[in-house]
Amino acid sequence: MKIRKICCIGAGYVGGPTMSVIADKCSDLEVKVVDINKERIAAWNDSDLNNLPIFEPGLDQIISRTRGRNLFFSSEMEKSIANADMIFISVNTPTKTKGLGAGQASDLSWVEASARQVAKYAEGHTIVIEKSTLPVRTAQAIKEILEATKKENAKNKNPKTFSVLSNPEFLAEGTAISDLEEPDRVLIGGEDPEAIKALVNIYLNWVPIEKIICTNLWSSELSKLAANAFLAQRISSINSISAFCEATGADINEVAKAIGTDKRIGNQFLSAGPGFGGSCFKKDILNLVYLSGYFGLPEVANYWNQVVVLNTWQQDRIYKIVLEKLFGTVSGKNIAILGFSFKANTNDTRESPSIRISCDLLEEGALLSIYDPKVSFERIKEDFERFSFNNQGIWKMVNSIPDALKNADAVLILTAWDEFFGLDWKYLASLMRSPAWVFDTRSVVKRQEIKNTSLNLWKLGEGS
Ligand code: UDX
Ligand code: UDX
Repeated sequence: MKIRKICCIGAGYVGGPTMSVIADKCSDLEVKVVDINKERIAAWNDSDLNNLPIFEPGLDQIISRTRGRNLFFSSEMEKSIANADMIFISVNTPTKTKGLGAGQASDLSWVEASARQVAKYAEGHTIVIEKSTLPVRTAQAIKEILEATKKENAKNKNPKTFSVLSNPEFLAEGTAISDLEEPDRVLIGGEDPEAIKALVNIYLNWVPIEKIICTNLWSSELSKLAANAFLAQRISSINSISAFCEATGADINEVAKAIGTDKRIGNQFLSAGPGFGGSCFKKDILNLVYLSGYFGLPEVANYWNQVVVLNTWQQDRIYKIVLEKLFGTVSGKNIAILGFSFKANTNDTRESPSIRISCDLLEEGALLSIYDPKVSFERIKEDFERFSFNNQGIWKMVNSIPDALKNADAVLILTAWDEFFGLDWKYLASLMRSPAWVFDTRSVVKRQEIKNTSLNLWKLGEGS
């Protein structure tokens, strides 16, 4: 089956970069990315590449050479679906806030709505691909929605037919382009060999065959959940050891290096920090917890739930340490927050540890000056509104590190942006009040850098 036109529903952090790379690597394909959010589509089409809706290193160069050539961003859902040979569903699947499974299960309304749109507008044979991370066996629901239309159209001369595949995305934000260009693996789950072959052929334009893994649908869906759960578990593990280091005089970076040299453990993903954020880890683990309960596996559910419990505990622990070091109160004190995104090199703040920690400090009456090189004021405002807390403090956003630290009693480093490394602490200390604290949760500051200043330094995972 020759694929000529691709459509992707959802122009978000996954759909946007993934389709940009596919368009870049397959110049003979026409790739259309559609979204119900017209503002987002307008931003993707903005002639100023600084206004793209997401910040991702290297994305602007790809957009500049593909957009208008074979990559198009549009709100024309109906026509784009009708013309496509292959449709990726890459819409968001947040944790349910109401109803059965609230707080754990994923809300599949958007996926279902997308499947219904595909069922309605598709023409001829269409391959439908789950790109969003979904609970195991969601493909069954998508299939049933599509099958229903197939029956309705059985009498047509050219009836609609569908094949459903699962092709989960493993990109990490901040390194999305290199993750897409040089993936560790591409995973394709499905039952229809022709459809699988068609998708494999697209990836073969740049991915070596030995990196393309084909499985059944359910293994593919579960592998994505399991991969994220394992990664998140590793962060909770190292974070639990960071607290242990502080209590015992060990140093988390030395411990991480020592254990990471064991080939069986490996040295990646062992940086202790303020806890994992991002749209996936917490949502996917909670989903796994929910499904474990559903399938009558409460011990499995409890096991994975603890990864999330520890993550929240790590964030609370940091806020309490700040409070304790500042003599038990931050009311009326100026605190600089460096970094608001959930990790460096992205403007995404979903589940960022900075949200919870900042809100806890604001509840205590702190005056926060927040600096982040890529996150907008509106984003932070929305995050604070959504977190709904009893705000006793005041916050503002500033445009530079010195502006944030002016008259500050403390600075809290929460994201490892490049520009936070190697700062001139002698100069910065002169801007702060005395005694002043530096709280470094990302191993950004070296102890010798503050040696000849009046600053006190607390580093996560460094025991005294
Ligand atoms: C990703 C993954 O796809 C998902 O599996 C994961 O669980 C969360 O992260 P992401 O691209 O990061 O999604 O989400 P987001 O940036 O919110 O983008 C989703 C887009 O889909 C939004 O722009 C939204 O407007 C759009 N959408 C949603 C539609 O176009 N149609 C819908 O019916 C619903
Ligand atoms: C993750 C998965 O890595 C990716 O494969 C999947 O497709 C989506 O979810 P993402 O959330 O974008 O990607 O970023 P990731 O690099 O995994 O970081 C997640 C969180 O863990 C961040 O808050 C990050 O700061 C934190 N982290 C990561 C650590 O605290 N320590 C580490 O060693 C690594």
